[in-house]
Amino acid sequence: LPAWSADQALWEKSTLNRILARGELRVGLEAGYMPFEMRDKKGNIIGFDVDIARLMAKAMGVKLTLVNTQWDGIIPALLTDKFDVLMGGMTITPERNLQVNFTDPYIYIGQTVLLARKHEHTITVYSQLDDPRYTIATKLGTTGEIAARRYMPKARIKSFESEADAAMEVRNGRADAFVYDMPYNVVYAAQFPDALVHLKEPFTREALGWAVRKGDPDFLNWLNHFLRQIKDDGVYDALYKKWFEN
Ligand code: ARG
Repeated sequence: LPAWSADQALWEKSTLNRILARGELRVGLEAGYMPFEMRDKKGNIIGFDVDIARLMAKAMGVKLTLVNTQWDGIIPALLTDKFDVLMGGMTITPERNLQVNFTDPYIYIGQTVLLARKHEHTITVYSQLDDPRYTIATKLGTTGEIAARRYMPKARIKSFESEADAAMEVRNGRADAFVYDMPYNVVYAAQFPDALVHLKEPFTREALGWAVRKGDPDFLNWLNHFLRQIKDDGVYDALYKKWFEN
């Protein structure tokens, strides 16, 4: 470790150096976003991102620590070094990309609609929800909220801290629909088939990426090539099958 402060500052600018010196990779996420990160019956955080994070730590030869963080504060938490990398199914948007760097996309998703069962035969496509008669539940600060405001501007939009609370609003009959990322809606609809109908046609196309602090090309390079490696060697496909195709 260099003693001079200028060298020290340069050394510390590389998150990778600090991870290796610490012997620990700290991954920020927000449990609740199925099937990327969620809690099992024992309360452990599991999911697609978590499995990949575990493999990353293994490849670095360090231990993994998951830092569960509320969605609305998750970028500030990254910027203030509460963790090293954000692996939370975050959509790469130009606005977020002003604040953080993103890895290459690791999956593409789209917004879909979870509809109250009572509308099953009257609403068949998302655009019909653009009507002042309807209330749409979304999660605060997500691309689902942005999509609902953009494509259903005439509807009443109600935003919630958690996706579970927003989806619950539809099951309780207080909202007509929930707009969110397709993978979450697939899992949720399967859990409550009597209450909900899933309009499976995505109406946006979004790339999800892992986020790191700006000005750290070494770490970004490591993450992008780790992603390429697991895509090349079959590990990514096996995990994709495990979490998205059961
Ligand atoms: N992809 C959406 C977005 O970026 C939702 C991600 C929510 N992730 C979570 N861990 N709750 O806004």
